[in-house]
Amino acid sequence: MLARAISAATFAQRRRALMDQMGPNSIALLPAAPPANRNSDVEYPYRQNSDFYYLTGFPEPGALAVLTPNSEQEYLLFCRERDPQMETWHGRRAGPQGAVKRYGADNAYPIAKLDQLLPRLLENREQVYYAIGHRPDFDRQVMEWIKQVRSRVRLGVQAPTTFIALDRLLHDMRLHKDPEEVAVMRESARIAVEAHCRAMRVCRPGMMEYEIEADILHTFLRYGAGWSYPAIVAGGDNSCILHYTENNAVLGDGEVLLIDAGAEVDGYASDITRTFPINGRFSAEQRAIYELVLAAQQAAIAKVRPGCHFNEPHDAAVRTLTEGLVTLGLLHGEVDALITDEQYKALYMHRTGHWLGMDVHDVGDYKSGSDWRTFEPGMVTTVEPGLYIPAGGKIMDAQWARLGVHLETELDERWWRIGVRIEDDVLVTADGHEVLTEAAPKTVDDIEALMREGR
Ligand code: GLY
Ligand code: MN
Ligand code: MN
Repeated sequence: MLARAISAATFAQRRRALMDQMGPNSIALLPAAPPANRNSDVEYPYRQNSDFYYLTGFPEPGALAVLTPNSEQEYLLFCRERDPQMETWHGRRAGPQGAVKRYGADNAYPIAKLDQLLPRLLENREQVYYAIGHRPDFDRQVMEWIKQVRSRVRLGVQAPTTFIALDRLLHDMRLHKDPEEVAVMRESARIAVEAHCRAMRVCRPGMMEYEIEADILHTFLRYGAGWSYPAIVAGGDNSCILHYTENNAVLGDGEVLLIDAGAEVDGYASDITRTFPINGRFSAEQRAIYELVLAAQQAAIAKVRPGCHFNEPHDAAVRTLTEGLVTLGLLHGEVDALITDEQYKALYMHRTGHWLGMDVHDVGDYKSGSDWRTFEPGMVTTVEPGLYIPAGGKIMDAQWARLGVHLETELDERWWRIGVRIEDDVLVTADGHEVLTEAAPKTVDDIEALMREGR
Protein backbone atom coordinates (compact mmCIF):
# COMPACT_ATOMS: atom_id res chain seq x y z
CA MET A 1 0.00 0.00 0.00
CA LEU A 2 1.21 3.53 -0.70
CA ALA A 3 2.55 5.25 2.39
CA ARG A 4 0.25 8.16 1.62
CA ALA A 5 -2.94 6.07 1.56
CA ILE A 6 -5.45 5.64 4.36
CA SER A 7 -4.98 2.26 6.09
CA ALA A 8 -7.56 -0.54 6.40
CA ALA A 9 -7.44 -0.07 10.19
CA THR A 10 -8.47 3.57 9.85
CA PHE A 11 -11.41 2.73 7.59
CA ALA A 12 -12.50 0.15 10.20
CA GLN A 13 -12.16 2.72 12.99
CA ARG A 14 -14.34 5.16 11.09
CA ARG A 15 -17.08 2.57 10.60
CA ARG A 16 -16.88 1.72 14.31
CA ALA A 17 -17.09 5.40 15.28
CA LEU A 18 -20.13 5.91 13.05
CA MET A 19 -21.89 2.78 14.31
CA ASP A 20 -21.24 3.83 17.91
CA GLN A 21 -23.33 6.94 17.22
CA MET A 22 -26.21 5.08 15.56
CA GLY A 23 -29.29 3.79 17.36
CA PRO A 24 -29.21 0.23 18.77
CA ASN A 25 -31.55 -1.24 16.17
CA SER A 26 -30.56 0.66 13.07
CA ILE A 27 -29.10 0.28 9.61
CA ALA A 28 -27.04 2.64 7.43
CA LEU A 29 -27.03 2.55 3.64
CA LEU A 30 -24.33 4.22 1.53
CA PRO A 31 -24.29 3.91 -2.26
CA ALA A 32 -21.15 4.35 -4.36
CA ALA A 33 -21.16 7.23 -6.87
CA PRO A 34 -22.78 6.31 -10.19
CA PRO A 35 -20.59 6.58 -13.28
CA ALA A 36 -21.23 9.77 -15.27
CA ASN A 37 -21.70 9.84 -19.03
CA ARG A 38 -19.71 12.53 -20.82
CA ASN A 39 -20.80 12.09 -24.43
CA SER A 40 -21.86 9.18 -26.61
CA ASP A 41 -20.41 6.09 -24.91
CA VAL A 42 -17.59 7.99 -23.20
CA GLU A 43 -17.63 8.37 -19.43
CA TYR A 44 -16.00 10.95 -17.19
CA PRO A 45 -13.08 9.50 -15.23
CA TYR A 46 -14.72 7.80 -12.26
CA ARG A 47 -14.57 9.59 -8.91
CA GLN A 48 -15.91 7.72 -5.88
CA ASN A 49 -18.46 9.41 -3.60
CA SER A 50 -16.52 11.01 -0.74
CA ASP A 51 -18.76 9.70 2.08
CA PHE A 52 -18.72 6.18 0.67
CA TYR A 53 -14.96 6.25 0.22
CA TYR A 54 -14.42 7.70 3.70
CA LEU A 55 -16.02 4.63 5.25
CA THR A 56 -14.98 1.89 2.84
CA GLY A 57 -11.90 2.83 0.81
CA PHE A 58 -13.68 0.90 -1.97
CA PRO A 59 -12.92 2.53 -5.33
CA GLU A 60 -15.45 0.90 -7.68
CA PRO A 61 -18.87 2.02 -8.93
CA GLY A 62 -21.84 -0.35 -8.63
CA ALA A 63 -21.51 -0.83 -4.87
CA LEU A 64 -23.52 -0.27 -1.69
CA ALA A 65 -22.24 -0.41 1.89
CA VAL A 66 -24.59 -1.57 4.66
CA LEU A 67 -23.82 -1.04 8.34
CA THR A 68 -25.87 -2.77 11.02
CA PRO A 69 -24.38 -2.06 14.46
CA ASN A 70 -24.63 -4.82 17.07
CA SER A 71 -25.27 -7.55 14.54
CA GLU A 72 -23.07 -10.52 13.74
CA GLN A 73 -22.02 -9.08 10.41
CA GLU A 74 -21.93 -5.37 10.96
CA TYR A 75 -20.41 -4.36 7.62
CA LEU A 76 -21.75 -5.75 4.35
CA LEU A 77 -20.64 -4.67 0.93
CA PHE A 78 -22.64 -5.23 -2.24
CA CYS A 79 -20.40 -4.97 -5.30
CA ARG A 80 -19.97 -6.04 -8.90
CA GLU A 81 -19.10 -9.68 -9.44
CA ARG A 82 -15.85 -10.76 -11.05
CA ASP A 83 -16.37 -11.13 -14.81
CA PRO A 84 -13.35 -12.02 -16.98
CA GLN A 85 -14.85 -10.59 -20.14
CA MET A 86 -15.96 -7.28 -18.57
CA GLU A 87 -12.62 -7.02 -16.77
CA THR A 88 -10.77 -7.50 -20.06
CA TRP A 89 -12.62 -4.55 -21.54
CA HIS A 90 -13.14 -2.24 -18.59
CA GLY A 91 -10.68 -3.11 -15.84
CA ARG A 92 -10.32 -5.22 -12.72
CA ARG A 93 -13.00 -5.74 -10.10
CA ALA A 94 -12.58 -6.82 -6.50
CA GLY A 95 -15.71 -8.98 -6.52
CA PRO A 96 -17.40 -10.02 -3.26
CA GLN A 97 -14.41 -12.17 -2.26
CA GLY A 98 -12.03 -9.27 -2.71
CA ALA A 99 -14.43 -6.99 -0.81
CA VAL A 100 -14.07 -9.25 2.23
CA LYS A 101 -10.38 -9.98 1.85
CA ARG A 102 -9.05 -6.60 0.86
CA TYR A 103 -11.64 -4.11 2.08
CA GLY A 104 -12.58 -5.57 5.45
CA ALA A 105 -16.25 -6.36 4.80
CA ASP A 106 -17.70 -8.96 7.18
CA ASN A 107 -19.53 -10.36 4.20
CA ALA A 108 -20.14 -9.28 0.60
CA TYR A 109 -22.73 -10.03 -2.08
CA PRO A 110 -23.13 -9.37 -5.80
CA ILE A 111 -24.82 -6.04 -6.45
CA ALA A 112 -27.24 -7.93 -8.72
CA LYS A 113 -28.74 -9.47 -5.56
CA LEU A 114 -29.42 -6.11 -3.96
CA ASP A 115 -33.18 -5.93 -4.56
CA GLN A 116 -33.57 -9.46 -3.31
CA LEU A 117 -31.51 -9.10 -0.11
CA LEU A 118 -31.86 -5.50 0.99
CA PRO A 119 -35.55 -5.66 2.05
CA ARG A 120 -34.65 -8.58 4.31
CA LEU A 121 -31.86 -6.55 5.90
CA LEU A 122 -34.33 -3.74 6.60
CA GLU A 123 -36.78 -6.03 8.40
CA ASN A 124 -37.23 -5.29 12.10
CA ARG A 125 -34.85 -2.30 12.01
CA GLU A 126 -36.30 0.84 13.59
CA GLN A 127 -34.05 3.48 12.10
CA VAL A 128 -32.65 3.84 8.61
CA TYR A 129 -29.69 6.20 8.15
CA TYR A 130 -28.93 7.40 4.66
CA ALA A 131 -28.25 10.65 2.74
CA ILE A 132 -31.91 11.55 2.30
CA GLY A 133 -32.76 13.72 -0.69
CA HIS A 134 -29.37 13.79 -2.39
CA ARG A 135 -30.05 11.25 -5.14
CA PRO A 136 -33.65 10.89 -6.32
CA ASP A 137 -32.90 7.45 -7.81
CA PHE A 138 -31.59 6.19 -4.49
CA ASP A 139 -34.49 7.77 -2.55
CA ARG A 140 -36.88 5.84 -4.81
CA GLN A 141 -34.92 2.64 -4.40
CA VAL A 142 -35.00 2.88 -0.60
CA MET A 143 -38.76 3.50 -0.67
CA GLU A 144 -39.23 0.46 -2.93
CA TRP A 145 -37.36 -1.72 -0.44
CA ILE A 146 -39.39 -0.28 2.45
CA LYS A 147 -42.61 -1.03 0.57
CA GLN A 148 -41.52 -4.62 0.26
CA VAL A 149 -40.84 -4.83 3.98
CA ARG A 150 -44.28 -3.35 4.68
CA SER A 151 -45.88 -5.96 2.46
CA ARG A 152 -44.68 -8.56 4.95
CA VAL A 153 -45.95 -6.99 8.17
CA ARG A 154 -48.81 -9.51 8.36
CA LEU A 155 -46.14 -12.17 8.73
CA GLY A 156 -45.00 -10.41 11.89
CA VAL A 157 -42.23 -8.40 10.27
CA GLN A 158 -41.71 -4.80 11.49
CA ALA A 159 -40.93 -2.05 9.03
CA PRO A 160 -38.54 0.86 9.85
CA THR A 161 -40.30 3.92 11.24
CA THR A 162 -37.55 6.51 11.38
CA PHE A 163 -35.34 7.90 8.63
CA ILE A 164 -32.27 9.86 9.69
CA ALA A 165 -29.91 11.97 7.56
CA LEU A 166 -26.65 10.06 7.67
CA ASP A 167 -24.68 13.02 6.35
CA ARG A 168 -24.94 14.97 9.63
CA LEU A 169 -23.04 12.32 11.62
CA LEU A 170 -20.60 11.54 8.88
CA HIS A 171 -19.82 15.11 7.98
CA ASP A 172 -18.93 16.05 11.50
CA MET A 173 -16.52 13.11 11.55
CA ARG A 174 -15.03 14.20 8.22
CA LEU A 175 -14.57 17.75 9.49
CA HIS A 176 -12.08 16.52 12.13
CA LYS A 177 -9.08 15.03 10.35
CA ASP A 178 -7.23 12.11 11.94
CA PRO A 179 -3.41 11.85 11.72
CA GLU A 180 -3.51 9.65 8.61
CA GLU A 181 -5.76 12.13 6.83
CA VAL A 182 -3.44 14.96 7.80
CA ALA A 183 -0.49 12.99 6.37
CA VAL A 184 -2.33 12.49 3.07
CA MET A 185 -3.36 16.16 2.97
CA ARG A 186 0.25 17.16 3.59
CA GLU A 187 1.26 15.09 0.57
CA SER A 188 -1.52 16.63 -1.52
CA ALA A 189 -0.28 20.07 -0.42
CA ARG A 190 3.36 19.20 -1.19
CA ILE A 191 2.52 18.17 -4.74
CA ALA A 192 0.41 21.28 -5.36
CA VAL A 193 3.18 23.49 -3.96
CA GLU A 194 5.63 21.93 -6.39
CA ALA A 195 3.20 22.53 -9.26
CA HIS A 196 2.84 26.22 -8.36
CA CYS A 197 6.63 26.61 -8.07
CA ARG A 198 7.11 25.02 -11.48
CA ALA A 199 4.51 27.39 -12.95
CA MET A 200 6.42 30.39 -11.56
CA ARG A 201 9.67 29.11 -13.01
CA VAL A 202 8.41 28.40 -16.52
CA CYS A 203 6.06 31.37 -17.00
CA ARG A 204 7.05 33.80 -19.80
CA PRO A 205 5.16 36.60 -21.57
CA GLY A 206 3.61 35.28 -24.79
CA MET A 207 2.87 31.80 -23.48
CA MET A 208 -0.72 30.55 -23.41
CA GLU A 209 -2.56 30.02 -20.14
CA TYR A 210 -3.06 26.36 -21.08
CA GLU A 211 0.68 25.82 -21.37
CA ILE A 212 1.00 26.72 -17.71
CA GLU A 213 -1.99 24.48 -16.92
CA ALA A 214 -0.13 21.65 -18.66
CA ASP A 215 2.86 22.19 -16.38
CA ILE A 216 0.63 22.03 -13.33
CA LEU A 217 -1.05 18.82 -14.46
CA HIS A 218 2.36 17.39 -15.36
CA THR A 219 3.47 17.78 -11.75
CA PHE A 220 0.25 16.26 -10.37
CA LEU A 221 0.41 13.25 -12.66
CA ARG A 222 4.11 12.62 -12.07
CA TYR A 223 3.24 11.89 -8.46
CA GLY A 224 0.20 9.79 -9.27
CA ALA A 225 -2.09 12.55 -8.05
CA GLY A 226 -5.09 14.05 -9.80
CA TRP A 227 -6.64 17.50 -9.58
CA SER A 228 -9.15 18.38 -6.88
CA TYR A 229 -10.97 20.89 -9.16
CA PRO A 230 -10.24 22.21 -12.65
CA ALA A 231 -7.25 24.55 -12.47
CA ILE A 232 -7.82 28.28 -12.87
CA VAL A 233 -4.96 29.79 -14.88
CA ALA A 234 -6.00 33.38 -15.36
CA GLY A 235 -3.76 36.07 -16.85
CA GLY A 236 -4.40 39.83 -16.98
CA ASP A 237 -8.07 40.76 -16.90
CA ASN A 238 -9.02 37.07 -16.54
CA SER A 239 -7.51 37.18 -13.03
CA CYS A 240 -10.64 39.13 -12.05
CA ILE A 241 -12.99 36.27 -13.03
CA LEU A 242 -13.26 34.18 -9.89
CA HIS A 243 -14.14 30.86 -11.53
CA TYR A 244 -12.30 31.37 -14.82
CA THR A 245 -11.51 27.99 -16.40
CA GLU A 246 -11.15 28.63 -20.16
CA ASN A 247 -7.37 28.93 -19.72
CA ASN A 248 -6.91 29.79 -23.41
CA ALA A 249 -5.58 33.37 -23.51
CA VAL A 250 -2.10 34.73 -24.19
CA LEU A 251 -0.08 35.79 -21.13
CA GLY A 252 0.73 39.45 -21.59
CA ASP A 253 3.95 41.21 -20.61
CA GLY A 254 3.28 43.48 -17.63
CA GLU A 255 0.17 41.56 -16.51
CA VAL A 256 -0.38 39.30 -13.48
CA LEU A 257 -1.14 35.59 -13.56
CA LEU A 258 -3.48 34.12 -10.95
CA ILE A 259 -3.30 30.34 -10.59
CA ASP A 260 -5.78 28.51 -8.37
CA ALA A 261 -4.93 24.81 -8.56
CA GLY A 262 -4.98 21.91 -6.13
CA ALA A 263 -4.07 18.24 -6.24
CA GLU A 264 -6.05 15.21 -5.09
CA VAL A 265 -4.26 12.35 -3.34
CA ASP A 266 -6.19 9.25 -2.29
CA GLY A 267 -9.36 11.34 -2.24
CA TYR A 268 -7.93 14.35 -0.37
CA ALA A 269 -7.69 17.85 -1.82
CA SER A 270 -5.25 20.69 -1.63
CA ASP A 271 -6.36 24.14 -2.77
CA ILE A 272 -3.69 26.76 -3.44
CA THR A 273 -3.78 30.14 -5.16
CA ARG A 274 -0.73 32.15 -6.04
CA THR A 275 -0.56 35.33 -8.10
CA PHE A 276 2.62 36.60 -9.72
CA PRO A 277 3.80 38.95 -12.49
CA ILE A 278 4.06 37.22 -15.86
CA ASN A 279 7.40 38.89 -16.64
CA GLY A 280 8.83 38.18 -13.19
CA ARG A 281 8.68 41.76 -11.78
CA PHE A 282 5.70 43.31 -9.98
CA SER A 283 4.75 46.80 -11.19
CA ALA A 284 4.19 49.44 -8.50
CA GLU A 285 0.40 49.01 -8.62
CA GLN A 286 0.56 45.22 -8.73
CA ARG A 287 2.93 45.23 -5.78
CA ALA A 288 0.70 47.56 -3.76
CA ILE A 289 -2.38 45.38 -4.31
CA TYR A 290 -0.39 42.20 -3.78
CA GLU A 291 1.16 43.29 -0.52
CA LEU A 292 -2.21 44.39 0.78
CA VAL A 293 -3.76 41.00 0.02
CA LEU A 294 -0.77 39.30 1.64
CA ALA A 295 -1.17 41.42 4.78
CA ALA A 296 -4.87 40.51 4.87
CA GLN A 297 -4.02 36.84 4.49
CA GLN A 298 -1.48 37.00 7.31
CA ALA A 299 -4.00 38.75 9.57
CA ALA A 300 -6.57 36.09 8.70
CA ILE A 301 -4.21 33.13 9.23
CA ALA A 302 -3.38 34.48 12.70
CA LYS A 303 -7.06 33.94 13.59
CA VAL A 304 -7.01 30.26 12.72
CA ARG A 305 -6.50 28.67 16.13
CA PRO A 306 -8.54 27.00 18.85
CA GLY A 307 -10.70 29.59 20.56
CA CYS A 308 -11.31 31.65 17.41
CA HIS A 309 -14.49 31.09 15.44
CA PHE A 310 -14.80 30.39 11.73
CA ASN A 311 -15.63 33.97 10.74
CA GLU A 312 -12.75 35.66 12.56
CA PRO A 313 -10.26 35.16 9.69
CA HIS A 314 -12.79 36.72 7.31
CA ASP A 315 -13.41 39.68 9.60
CA ALA A 316 -9.65 40.22 9.97
CA ALA A 317 -9.12 40.04 6.19
CA VAL A 318 -11.96 42.46 5.45
CA ARG A 319 -10.63 45.00 7.96
CA THR A 320 -7.05 44.83 6.68
CA LEU A 321 -8.19 45.07 3.06
CA THR A 322 -10.54 47.98 3.71
CA GLU A 323 -7.93 49.94 5.67
CA GLY A 324 -5.38 49.31 2.91
CA LEU A 325 -7.78 50.32 0.14
CA VAL A 326 -8.44 53.62 1.91
CA THR A 327 -4.70 54.21 2.27
CA LEU A 328 -4.20 53.51 -1.45
CA GLY A 329 -7.04 55.88 -2.30
CA LEU A 330 -9.14 53.12 -3.82
CA LEU A 331 -11.94 53.49 -1.27
CA HIS A 332 -12.97 56.75 0.35
CA GLY A 333 -14.47 57.22 3.79
CA GLU A 334 -14.42 55.80 7.30
CA VAL A 335 -13.16 52.23 7.53
CA ASP A 336 -15.96 51.13 9.89
CA ALA A 337 -18.65 52.61 7.66
CA LEU A 338 -17.11 51.09 4.53
CA ILE A 339 -17.19 47.70 6.26
CA THR A 340 -20.73 48.11 7.58
CA ASP A 341 -21.96 49.25 4.17
CA GLU A 342 -19.98 46.41 2.54
CA GLN A 343 -18.39 48.80 0.07
CA TYR A 344 -15.25 46.65 0.01
CA LYS A 345 -17.37 44.06 -1.82
CA ALA A 346 -16.86 45.92 -5.10
CA LEU A 347 -13.26 44.67 -4.96
CA TYR A 348 -13.50 41.69 -2.58
CA MET A 349 -16.71 39.81 -3.23
CA HIS A 350 -16.05 36.32 -1.87
CA ARG A 351 -15.45 34.87 1.54
CA THR A 352 -12.06 34.18 3.07
CA GLY A 353 -12.17 30.40 3.46
CA HIS A 354 -13.94 27.08 3.52
CA TRP A 355 -13.38 23.68 5.09
CA LEU A 356 -11.00 21.50 3.09
CA GLY A 357 -10.75 17.70 3.00
CA MET A 358 -12.05 15.04 0.65
CA ASP A 359 -14.13 17.68 -1.09
CA VAL A 360 -12.47 20.95 -1.98
CA HIS A 361 -15.40 22.80 -0.44
CA ASP A 362 -15.55 20.23 2.28
CA VAL A 363 -18.46 19.09 4.40
CA GLY A 364 -19.11 20.15 7.98
CA ASP A 365 -21.29 22.83 9.50
CA TYR A 366 -19.98 26.40 9.65
CA LYS A 367 -22.38 27.38 12.38
CA SER A 368 -23.60 25.74 15.51
CA GLY A 369 -27.11 27.15 15.95
CA SER A 370 -26.74 30.82 15.17
CA ASP A 371 -23.08 31.05 16.27
CA TRP A 372 -20.04 30.56 14.09
CA ARG A 373 -18.28 27.33 14.88
CA THR A 374 -15.07 27.49 16.92
CA PHE A 375 -11.87 26.06 15.43
CA GLU A 376 -10.78 22.74 16.89
CA PRO A 377 -7.55 20.76 16.34
CA GLY A 378 -7.77 18.60 13.22
CA MET A 379 -9.98 20.97 11.24
CA VAL A 380 -8.53 22.26 7.96
CA THR A 381 -9.63 25.54 6.40
CA THR A 382 -8.41 27.54 3.44
CA VAL A 383 -7.47 31.19 3.91
CA GLU A 384 -7.87 33.01 0.61
CA PRO A 385 -8.47 36.75 0.56
CA GLY A 386 -8.24 38.61 -2.73
CA LEU A 387 -8.76 41.89 -4.54
CA TYR A 388 -10.05 42.14 -8.10
CA ILE A 389 -9.93 45.24 -10.28
CA PRO A 390 -10.99 44.42 -13.87
CA ALA A 391 -10.66 46.84 -16.79
CA GLY A 392 -13.28 49.50 -16.09
CA GLY A 393 -13.39 48.46 -12.40
CA LYS A 394 -15.78 50.55 -10.33
CA ILE A 395 -16.50 51.33 -6.71
CA MET A 396 -19.47 53.08 -5.18
CA ASP A 397 -19.27 56.87 -5.16
CA ALA A 398 -18.68 57.61 -1.48
CA GLN A 399 -20.43 60.99 -1.38
CA TRP A 400 -23.62 59.68 -2.94
CA ALA A 401 -23.46 56.47 -0.91
CA ARG A 402 -23.66 58.55 2.27
CA LEU A 403 -26.93 59.98 0.94
CA GLY A 404 -28.18 56.47 0.18
CA VAL A 405 -27.77 56.88 -3.59
CA HIS A 406 -26.06 54.06 -5.47
CA LEU A 407 -23.81 55.75 -8.01
CA GLU A 408 -20.68 54.10 -9.33
CA THR A 409 -17.38 55.68 -10.16
CA GLU A 410 -14.59 54.18 -12.26
CA LEU A 411 -11.16 53.53 -10.76
CA ASP A 412 -8.08 55.00 -12.37
CA GLU A 413 -6.84 52.95 -15.32
CA ARG A 414 -3.44 52.25 -13.78
CA TRP A 415 -5.17 49.84 -11.34
CA TRP A 416 -7.02 47.86 -14.00
CA ARG A 417 -6.55 44.17 -14.79
CA ILE A 418 -5.09 43.34 -11.41
CA GLY A 419 -6.72 40.33 -9.75
CA VAL A 420 -4.84 38.95 -6.76
CA ARG A 421 -5.77 36.03 -4.54
CA ILE A 422 -3.43 34.26 -2.13
CA GLU A 423 -4.74 30.96 -0.80
CA ASP A 424 -3.23 28.52 1.67
CA ASP A 425 -4.48 25.40 3.43
CA VAL A 426 -4.34 25.73 7.20
CA LEU A 427 -4.57 22.92 9.75
CA VAL A 428 -5.80 23.83 13.22
CA THR A 429 -3.41 22.41 15.85
CA ALA A 430 -3.68 22.16 19.64
CA ASP A 431 -1.95 25.49 20.16
CA GLY A 432 -2.42 27.32 16.87
CA HIS A 433 -2.14 26.29 13.28
CA GLU A 434 0.13 24.80 10.64
CA VAL A 435 0.08 26.15 7.09
CA LEU A 436 0.24 22.96 5.02
CA THR A 437 1.05 24.91 1.85
CA GLU A 438 3.66 27.22 3.40
CA ALA A 439 6.40 26.13 0.97
CA ALA A 440 4.79 27.91 -2.00
CA PRO A 441 6.55 31.32 -2.14
CA LYS A 442 4.30 34.27 -1.45
CA THR A 443 6.34 37.33 -0.49
CA VAL A 444 7.16 39.65 -3.38
CA ASP A 445 10.89 39.00 -2.90
CA ASP A 446 10.52 35.21 -2.75
CA ILE A 447 8.31 35.11 -5.84
CA GLU A 448 10.61 37.37 -7.87
CA ALA A 449 13.65 35.35 -6.75
CA LEU A 450 12.08 32.04 -7.79
CA MET A 451 11.01 33.50 -11.13
CA ARG A 452 14.56 34.73 -11.76
CA GLU A 453 15.80 31.16 -11.20
CA GLY A 454 13.92 29.99 -14.24
CA ARG A 455 15.30 32.75 -16.50
N1 GLY B 1 -10.56 26.55 -5.85
C1 GLY B 1 -11.81 26.83 -5.30
C2 GLY B 1 -11.70 27.71 -4.16
O1 GLY B 1 -10.67 28.31 -3.95
O2 GLY B 1 -12.59 27.81 -3.37
MN1 MN C 1 -10.52 27.61 -1.87
MN1 MN D 1 -8.78 27.71 -4.64
